[in-house]
Amino acid sequence: QTLTLKMNGPQSEVQPTMWGIFFEDINFSADGGIYAELIKNRSFEFTVPMMGWKEVRKEGTGNVLIVNRETGHAANPRYAHLTISAGSGSYGLFNEGFRGIGYKKGMQYNFSFLARSTGGQTPARLVLVDEKGERIGETTIPAVTGKDWKKYVATVTADRTVTKGGVQLLFSGNGTLDIDMVSLFPQDTWKQRPGGLRNDLVQLLADLHPGFVRFPGGCIVEGRDLANRYQWKKTVGKVEDRTLIVNRWNTEFAHRAPGDYFQSYGLGFYEYFQLSEDLGAAPLPIINCGMACQFNTGEVAADEDVAVYIQDALDLIEFANGATSTKWGQLRADMGHPAPFNLQFLGVGNEQWDSQYIARYQRFEEVLKTKHPEIKLVSSVGPFSSGDRFDYLWSKLKPSKADLVDEHYYMPPEWFLKNAGRYDNYERKGPKIFAGEYAAHIKTPKGQKETDTAEGRNTWESALAEAAFMTGLERNADIVQMASYAPLLAHVDAWQWRPDLIWFDNLRSVGTPNYYVQKLFANSRGTHTVSVTANGKTLTGQDGIYASATIDKTSKKILLKVVNATDKAIDYKVALEGAATSAGPVTHQVLTAANKTDINTLDAPAVVAPVENKLKATKNNVPVSVGANSLNVITIPYK
Ligand code: AHR
Repeated sequence: QTLTLKMNGPQSEVQPTMWGIFFEDINFSADGGIYAELIKNRSFEFTVPMMGWKEVRKEGTGNVLIVNRETGHAANPRYAHLTISAGSGSYGLFNEGFRGIGYKKGMQYNFSFLARSTGGQTPARLVLVDEKGERIGETTIPAVTGKDWKKYVATVTADRTVTKGGVQLLFSGNGTLDIDMVSLFPQDTWKQRPGGLRNDLVQLLADLHPGFVRFPGGCIVEGRDLANRYQWKKTVGKVEDRTLIVNRWNTEFAHRAPGDYFQSYGLGFYEYFQLSEDLGAAPLPIINCGMACQFNTGEVAADEDVAVYIQDALDLIEFANGATSTKWGQLRADMGHPAPFNLQFLGVGNEQWDSQYIARYQRFEEVLKTKHPEIKLVSSVGPFSSGDRFDYLWSKLKPSKADLVDEHYYMPPEWFLKNAGRYDNYERKGPKIFAGEYAAHIKTPKGQKETDTAEGRNTWESALAEAAFMTGLERNADIVQMASYAPLLAHVDAWQWRPDLIWFDNLRSVGTPNYYVQKLFANSRGTHTVSVTANGKTLTGQDGIYASATIDKTSKKILLKVVNATDKAIDYKVALEGAATSAGPVTHQVLTAANKTDINTLDAPAVVAPVENKLKATKNNVPVSVGANSLNVITIPYK
């Protein structure tokens, strides 16, 4: 069979934002995940103030009081007041970390806390411990002196690798002191930034070369109620002045996040912008539009209060792009980034529906399009992939000034296979499409318990179906200008939602088969689409074959994607019409698996991983064999 690439036919631009990532603090993605802080409840602000902490007595005694100074310290009111009566023994606190603390042999850990002495002398030390409480590292902490709050720091090295350890902060002598913001970070954070992000997880994101980063959610933008919505202003400035709140995913599945899921905002909006910049990706913040999660309370802001939410959006644009002489631009500079973050996109609301949303969106649009016509607005059509509500929202958004509409679909693999042609005949005149959340979901058969491993739903079957669907997104790159899988990250011991793109524990991380699908597409994006046909027909799943192609006009490469969702290999000749192959290797990257149920796990991370071969080409012909159940990316230099 011949696959014809029409190099001299119509082409559409592929936006640099085509393949991106969607970060939401779900499944311990931020605290306990990519934000490398190892201490849980470091500022004693969880609803139960000692959650994560235990007292430790070793031939000494003492006690702890949690003090709340509401006046003057609204952002971080609590601290711990310790009374030490230990003499040559010790008394102190143990922190359990987020599902334990992972330590790597030979790694340095940076400890700090805010403290003040209120009397006596209490020499302190920090002890890293393993699962059984055995010491695996120890250091002394400078003596806390004086009645003013000061930051004290120390470093300690782990002499063993441990996945679920803990840490003890021990005092000897006799006296009283106050402590707050107790913190421990590994030395090897991303770009070695103090208080930074977990290196292995950011590296996995960087390897995707995402075109955009959508943040911070998701449902957490909305909150279960408006009091617990995401308020970006409370996530910037000094970490000790950021206001912790309960995570919207805290009690969704109590057994997986038993009341201990909070947002410390150590990863806040400044860090999200910085991460986007590090990844070379366009930042896409989503802002609350005055509506809480409609799956929960459905609370909405009073009409007269919507102006406050719009002002938040305006101030955010100033924070990202404003001159350093402006209030919010100056804060950005004070935090270390005088240059603008080059914000170009802003999302208004997440998954809201009904006329309430449209009315609110219109108010945002009126102000934002007048004051900031340079910012592209992203609107939403709720959690629907079709149906009356979906049609209603679209009918209202078509004539709007929304630049992109965010469509979400969490559907079974069969849906993805059937819908690869979804955008082939879509309206071309209205807003562009942002496929902002999608993943093929394999359901637990009725009556069966979920007994598989956490990574168990990220099967090759689900990834292959997504790959088939993504050929349809790519073919329609003239209207589909952004797409992101969801959710992005999940801790194997603390998840609320699956499947997810990347799984991790306290030390390790693994890309799922779905991750490799995203990676193959994103790393072979190209600059323009070209048509690929067999017998004059677009390949949208007839006979189980899907294909799309782009060219990169700078590197002069054809980037052909073929998905074979059948159980038989097929031999193709790729024929170039209107161009010829040029010197240079023709490569064939293949992603496949022995079984559709195959998964990658932390223990076996490369069961499904891409393999690259070379192909032999003639002047305008490339023979390629496309294996059963496989995604293939064929890269052909052309002239
Ligand atoms: O990705 C998980 C959730 O799915 C998101 O928070 C929400 O937008 C959607 O319902």
